[in-house]
Amino acid sequence: MDRTAQLTASAPHHEIAYDPPSILSNDPASVHVTAARVLAENWTGTSTVPSRRLYPHQWSWDSAFVAIGLRHLSPLRAQVELETLLAAQWADGRIPHIVFNPSVPLDAYFPSPDFWRSSTAGRAAGAPRTVQTSGIVQPPVHALAAWLVHLADPGLSRSRSFLAGVYPRLAAWHRYLLHRRDLGGGGLVSVVHPWEQGMDNSPCWDAPLARVTPAPARSFRRADLDHGAAEDRPTDLDYGRYVRLATEYRDAGYADRTREFAVEDPAFNALLIASEHALARIAQELGATGTARHARAERLTAALVDRLWDPERGIFLCRDLLGGGLIPERSVSGLVPLLLPELPRTTAAALVRTLTGPHFGTATRLVPSYDLLGEAFDPHRYWRGPAWFNTGWLLERGLREHGEGARADALAEAVVRTAAASGFAEYVDPHTGEACGAAGFSWTAALALDLHHRRQAPPGEPHGSRNTQHGQSMDKS
Ligand code: SER
Repeated sequence: MDRTAQLTASAPHHEIAYDPPSILSNDPASVHVTAARVLAENWTGTSTVPSRRLYPHQWSWDSAFVAIGLRHLSPLRAQVELETLLAAQWADGRIPHIVFNPSVPLDAYFPSPDFWRSSTAGRAAGAPRTVQTSGIVQPPVHALAAWLVHLADPGLSRSRSFLAGVYPRLAAWHRYLLHRRDLGGGGLVSVVHPWEQGMDNSPCWDAPLARVTPAPARSFRRADLDHGAAEDRPTDLDYGRYVRLATEYRDAGYADRTREFAVEDPAFNALLIASEHALARIAQELGATGTARHARAERLTAALVDRLWDPERGIFLCRDLLGGGLIPERSVSGLVPLLLPELPRTTAAALVRTLTGPHFGTATRLVPSYDLLGEAFDPHRYWRGPAWFNTGWLLERGLREHGEGARADALAEAVVRTAAASGFAEYVDPHTGEACGAAGFSWTAALALDLHHRRQAPPGEPHGSRNTQHGQSMDKS
């Protein structure tokens, strides 16, 4: 019996078992089967953990990427994944970066719920009472994910009123970011912790983090080193600084104002813009025009170019609000705005040149997280050089958006092949494809699955291109 078929609008409170034999008994060598197995193993019943051991709870942007892949296995599970996350939204609109699973022991992950204390320290900001969460956020990929999940099975989506249910929450999320996090006053959103941007110890943060006094090493115990090689993970010094920033934010009741760390990041803002376009499409599907949202996305794109574009380097940079300017480090974050349909043609062309040139393209098949020629480049250490699969997925979309179909095809092929060959590793050495970090990582499996399915799409199925209005690639699978 198809157990998922029994479950409809009752999610996310009902668990969904996941072992569809039709998938797992097919050709054992195919990417579809192996990726589906990773996602099955990491499924908890209402959501997916990024990694059973290293990240044993639900993470915000991981879940959005996971849903994008899950839609090919079970559109229902993909919807439930997002609904579970959104059920933990705070009253002020923020979507927390972690939703904790109460059945996981406290010492399995640090910082644990007793560090964040969301239901007490976050009370004034409207943290939920029934579920424990962190108090920081992660990049807003959710509306884009919700739209893509809807497209996978519009009939199921409409029968469960999926979009009608998620739209107000996604709109509140974007409102929170645009109104509470425009700390620089220039229209862009700032992150207040490196974990919010998602690329935790990118060399972009070295200068702003250097101002932060680390929390004493004896005041906390890292759990990540129980599951990952120390040389692949952030240093103890960086961890001390992460803990200090999170502690101060918590002790201020998670109130948003500029403190020791405030950075405008190109990928975070580009994902907000892409999601704003997706939210416009969701509004249209629900009977509104979506025009105001498309217009806002266009204004945000103009602000992004105005505040973060570096024409000399041909890449977007991070802006350090406290250090007073652009941070002169090339990171993959600065390439992600290629995703945006309204990027000026010259800017998009320059980004493609940077992506394929010596800083990111030479001798690699996947895109490194940091400048191959940068002083801080390290092919194995977390976000300081290795290639990640979510940025590969985003750049594949960006290349396609801007008419670079052949390059997009090559990148898609490399992402799928390397993901499978690495055992769906968390990240890989960009030169050799050697697996780093956790094995059986959910978004690696999900996004490889998504690209695999799109490669299998019938000939002639359009992928979208820049000569369409508002990025029509969003209307395709
Ligand atoms: N990425 C951070 C960690 O390693 C926080 O989400 O735990």
